[in-house]
Amino acid sequence: MTIAFLNGEFMPLAEAKISPMDRGFLFGDGIYEVVPTYDGAPVGFKGHTARMSDGLSAINIDNPYTPEQWREILDTLVSKNSTHFSTGNIGIYFHVSRGADVKRYHAYPTGVTPTVFGFAFEIAPPQPTNKQSAKALKVALEEDKRWQRCHIKSTSLLGNVMHFQAGADAGVNETILFNSEGMITEASACNVFMVKDNVITTPPLNHQLLPGITRAIAITAFKNAGLDVKEDWFSKEDLLNADEVWLTSSSKEVAAVTEVNGKQIGEGIIGPVWEKAIRAYHAYKFDA
Ligand code: PDD
Repeated sequence: MTIAFLNGEFMPLAEAKISPMDRGFLFGDGIYEVVPTYDGAPVGFKGHTARMSDGLSAINIDNPYTPEQWREILDTLVSKNSTHFSTGNIGIYFHVSRGADVKRYHAYPTGVTPTVFGFAFEIAPPQPTNKQSAKALKVALEEDKRWQRCHIKSTSLLGNVMHFQAGADAGVNETILFNSEGMITEASACNVFMVKDNVITTPPLNHQLLPGITRAIAITAFKNAGLDVKEDWFSKEDLLNADEVWLTSSSKEVAAVTEVNGKQIGEGIIGPVWEKAIRAYHAYKFDA
């Protein structure tokens, strides 16, 4: 059994209990983060804690901990769980909900204490650096039907869950989303990049997508490596005609996609720019 963190205490995951009146349970009223760690070293920790602070302040919840305190919880979860997993690839989930009120009433209550939860789970090993050993992903394509505040990493994930499920039902790994103008926003749990003529493009940040920490690290890493990268909107037609398509997330790092909606991308195999990109990402990720 893994060890979890709940409201200041570490305990076996099965013993971590919260009230059904918790607003995270009733309303999805909370913020979460997933931080990847490899042999105890987190990737993007500063960015994850900063984004959690932004999300909490956007929904008027006081951040219960400083970044240093979050770091201590992360390190403790990693060390308490390290013997449980067969690898050092451990994801740490953090979750702060508004807490449990005595009644169900939509407006933010006063005087409730946020519920703070953390647990550890095994994530995939770091991406290999050559395309022969990497796993290519297939994705579905759907119109983005989520809310207008996708920049907030909210625990209200039903929209994302339904988009992801559409991909799962189609037998693919993810679902890439486009807005009502036909422009790509992100995927149900990842950011999206495309490559055309050696130029790497990812949608710019606004309310339609999450400011992914992996996305930010990747952009800096690619620039450091001299790759041509820009933030700009592109359409689903651009995506389908791209030379390469990639997804980024804390658990996938930079993952190549070779099929979108049943259509082969480029030559239908992982492309040469991905190899340069993943090497650049690995060279920089622990410095971010
Ligand atoms: N998903 N977009 C969405 C909608 C996401 O849920 C995620 C992360 C990302 C990538 O963000 P980051 O690089 O910071 O992980 C983009 C996490 C991993 C999840 O929900 O499990």
